[in-house]
Amino acid sequence: EKRIVPYEVIGEKTLHQLVDAFYSRVAKHPDLIPIFPKDLSEVAKKQKMFLTQYLGGPQLYTNAYGHPMMRARHLPHEITPKRAKAWLSCMSEAMDEVNLEGTIREEFFSRLVLTARHMVNTPDELS
Ligand code: HEM
Repeated sequence: EKRIVPYEVIGEKTLHQLVDAFYSRVAKHPDLIPIFPKDLSEVAKKQKMFLTQYLGGPQLYTNAYGHPMMRARHLPHEITPKRAKAWLSCMSEAMDEVNLEGTIREEFFSRLVLTARHMVNTPDELS
């Protein structure tokens, strides 16, 4: 029996379009601007590699940068519940833009909700 690989269902092209649509929203979001660099090209490149493996595709991020340890990599940045919500809203809008729909979207987004919650390292009132 064959396992469904979300990366194969979504495809590289749509995944890259999704990440680009996502960071163009991050660049304009008032809650996110303060913690992201002005030039988002490097983080967009890393995110394409990370999400490829997150969705069951080739281990591009790990091969280039080592173990993801995403929570640890986010510790230098103040990730508040408010910013996690903003991040997820940018992602949801980006999914709309690239017409990612149905079960594949719902399962991908639900996982991102959990991962985003896991990244929170600062209470709202301290940011
Ligand atoms: C890097 C913010 C959630 C994946 C970063 C950076 C920031 C950030 C500020 C560093 C950018 C830089 O200076 O280069 C946030 C916020 C989140 C969030 C506010 C809200 C919860 C996530 C989630 C994922 C993710 C859910 C994955 C599913 C990444 C990746 C990088 C990154 C792959 C690049 C890491 C590297 O430098 O190798 N994020 N992030 N982030 N984030 Fe997030």
